[in-house]
Amino acid sequence: MPISAFRPLLRQIYPSMSSASRAAPRLALISRHLDQSPFLELNTPFSTERSAPLEADVEYQASKPAPSRSTSKGTQTQPPKEQEKLAKMSNQAPHPALLIPGPIEFDDAVLSSMSHYSESHVGAPFVKTFSEALKMLRQLFQTTDPSSQPFVISGSGTLGWDQVAANLGEPGDEALVLHTGYFADSFADCFETYGVKATQLKAPIGDRPQLDEVEAALKEKTYKIITVTHVDTSTGVLSEIRALSELVHRVSPETLLVVDGVCSVGSEEIRFDDWGLDVVLTASQKGIGCPAGLSIVMASGRAMERFKARKTRPTSYFASWKNWLPIMQNYEANKPSYFATPSPQLIHALHTSLSQILSRPLDQRFAEHRAASKKVKQTVADLGLKQLATKPENQANGMTAIYLPEGLTPPEILPNLLKRGVVFAGGLHKEIAARYIRFGHMGVSVVDPKRDDIDRACAALKEGLSDVGYKKAE
Ligand SMILES: Cc1ncc(COP(=O)(O)O)c(C=O)c1O
Repeated sequence: MPISAFRPLLRQIYPSMSSASRAAPRLALISRHLDQSPFLELNTPFSTERSAPLEADVEYQASKPAPSRSTSKGTQTQPPKEQEKLAKMSNQAPHPALLIPGPIEFDDAVLSSMSHYSESHVGAPFVKTFSEALKMLRQLFQTTDPSSQPFVISGSGTLGWDQVAANLGEPGDEALVLHTGYFADSFADCFETYGVKATQLKAPIGDRPQLDEVEAALKEKTYKIITVTHVDTSTGVLSEIRALSELVHRVSPETLLVVDGVCSVGSEEIRFDDWGLDVVLTASQKGIGCPAGLSIVMASGRAMERFKARKTRPTSYFASWKNWLPIMQNYEANKPSYFATPSPQLIHALHTSLSQILSRPLDQRFAEHRAASKKVKQTVADLGLKQLATKPENQANGMTAIYLPEGLTPPEILPNLLKRGVVFAGGLHKEIAARYIRFGHMGVSVVDPKRDDIDRACAALKEGLSDVGYKKAE
């Protein structure tokens, strides 16, 4: 069905599309689901994409195949240059490069591994695939400690927060949440949902809480859990995990250190054992390069002991490690097991992407992300633009959050970039969302030498800004 068929409904959802107000009262009579006043406000405080033109309204002009020509072998299609290049990069339909900070571009093999025939989730072939994926996760997180425990559960990154709050927190416990952007607010909200009191330690936008501030906070009160967002996707701020972990172990050794690695696993170095981490939670759709749909968690032996010693039962059913721990252990040991049906297709995709990632040294992968990031950040500086994260040591290697020139808003520039074949994201930090855009540079767009996504995106950014009349101040 063409997207135009959905326009009336979309206009209803996106009020900035003008005729919605006329249709609303009539549609509201037909269905109470279309009532304009929601029962609950959406959790997302502000998203510029919501008021930007719909993507369907801004066409990406992928080159059409040129007319056929005759050769000695018969009639063939002569692809134009761009088509030829896209074909080399990928067998997927021509599409703009998705360079938002997740989901990211897929490798062909990851995508095609999902078109696996249907199989039993407790049959030997699938159990073997799941077992290998769990073992490979240990390598990705750089843990060889047998007491570390991987979990792969259907859901998105958010389910990792629920797992932490419901299994490691008990009602009345205290958690210290280090805040570098939007995602700390949500993690804190998740803790509160489970009756865990969350105290946030905030930094100015673009910065991170300093170690002496963290030390002071840890000395003031006993926290059961401390959380840090490795890369906050709303600001592109990178946190220093190793030094933080040393501090927590020194000042408050009983406190569990939980890392939100949703926007860092696969693109930033993480050494689970060496850095003494208790939980790293992530999702499938960013640095790991899979479709969205998997919550991936690595918990330390110490975190599992703490879970086993809890006085009350876990405060979630689906997210309960009581239910999932035997399943994960059985799968890894090649034994069929069931609590809730996993997605065999997603596990196949995960298996493929992990096999690819681990086929090369991890250090090389991280170095390539640092190099791509340097190139992007240099382009931003050459354009006379600033990043949200001002200090180099605070800047993520898998994404860049870029302030737009004064007066320019994301809806004015994003469609321009889309026309040039790249998709960036608008701002997400509620205080400044209308003033910046986000460029994700993770996974195959960075490490696949056949792709030129990053160079094309840097060029598109330059041209797109020049098109809207931006000139760097001399
Ligand atoms: C740092 C961070 N944490 C958590 C999440 C939540 O993950 P999901 O949207 O997959 O539920 C995101 C999502 O982008 C994120 O960037």
